Amino acid sequence: MAFMKKYLLPILVLFLGYYYSTKEEFRPEMLQGKKVIVTGASKGIGREMAYHLSTMGAHVVLTARSEEGLQKVVSRCLELGAASAHYIAGTMEDMMFAEQFVLKAGKLMGGLDMLILNHITYTPMTFFHNDIHSLRKIMEVNFISYVVLSVAALPMLKQSNGSIVVISSVAGKMAQPMLAPYSASKFALDGFFSTVRKEHIMTKVNVSITLCVLGLINTETAMKATSGIFTVQAAPKEECALEIIKGAALRKDEVYYGNWRWSSVLLSNPGRKILEFFSIKNYNLFVSN
Ligand SMILES: NC(=O)c1ccc[n+]([C@@H]2O[C@H](COP(=O)([O-])OP(=O)(O)OC[C@H]3O[C@@H](n4cnc5c(N)ncnc54)[C@H](OP(=O)(O)O)[C@@H]3O)[C@@H](O)[C@H]2O)c1
Ligand SMILES: *[C@@H]1O[C@H](CO)[C@@H](O)[C@H](O)[C@H]1NC(C)=O
Ligand SMILES: *[C@@H]1O[C@H](CO)[C@@H](O)[C@H](O)[C@H]1NC(C)=O
Repeated sequence: MAFMKKYLLPILVLFLGYYYSTKEEFRPEMLQGKKVIVTGASKGIGREMAYHLSTMGAHVVLTARSEEGLQKVVSRCLELGAASAHYIAGTMEDMMFAEQFVLKAGKLMGGLDMLILNHITYTPMTFFHNDIHSLRKIMEVNFISYVVLSVAALPMLKQSNGSIVVISSVAGKMAQPMLAPYSASKFALDGFFSTVRKEHIMTKVNVSITLCVLGLINTETAMKATSGIFTVQAAPKEECALEIIKGAALRKDEVYYGNWRWSSVLLSNPGRKILEFFSIKNYNLFVSN
């Protein structure tokens, strides 16, 4: 009986909770009038997300380094029906820019409902030898800037019961040779944001965090970087972008998208979820905001 109470019941609750939390259906109206930031939106998956959000009638503020690229995406967003569309160009190597960008975007839209963190610095696939300089830059752009952006956005997200969406990769859940620094930056995102998600629950902060685990997607950059190396079929970026937005709107913990059958089940690691569930129970804390 004690065993039942200690282990079986929580597991049952966990899985029933999971089952019902995935029951709600996505409706495009969920994004109507929502105020959304998309980083790395000048091309690739970021640009596709901006287009979907615009079609759904959201307000968007986009960023990347290329002003020319952003200008084109913003015009298209307005044609597609965005409630409003702006861009602020800059590099996420610069943490001052990252912080200021969020504050300016919040002013432009009068608040923030969703922060989509998607940019990465370009990394060719190669075996790791000794390029510490490049490793440091990858950690800064792919990881540290995500933390800076989310810290700057949190006050606005708390007000709106908003969402943080973190774009990661299969390489952020398992080892993938020739991508060591990139993989490290994506694992770091999982460690950091999955922990913050738990802290939000413990401190009653109603800001959801959705970690998106993507397989190979047919963006120009990825096709260039993997050509002659990977033999897997890439999945379409348009559908990928839509699946991310759906998962984010439903406030899911994780989204898996790619050309695979069983990998998502294996990667999602139920063992880790169960251990995390019990580890929270070991905290003897009464926490309030
Ligand atoms: N495509 C895939 O196969 C794949 C697979 C798994 C995960 N993902 C993830 O999906 C996300 C998007 O990937 P993608 O393939 O769509 O990439 P992408 O097409 O190369 O787009 C990257 C975006 O980031 C911007 N960017 C690059 N360097 C930057 C910097 N220093 N500061 C600010 N912005 C910068 C780029 O614009 P500018 O150059 O103008 O700055 C561009 O808008 C990434 O998080 C990636 O890890 C992709
Ligand atoms: C946020 O959620 C709380 C309940 O947790 C609710 O009282 C409040 O009205 C919500 N605020 C917004 C802006 O939706
Ligand atoms: C958190 O916010 C969402 C979105 O506004 C709302 O649907 C949900 O009821 C809130 N949850 C809690 C526990 O307040």
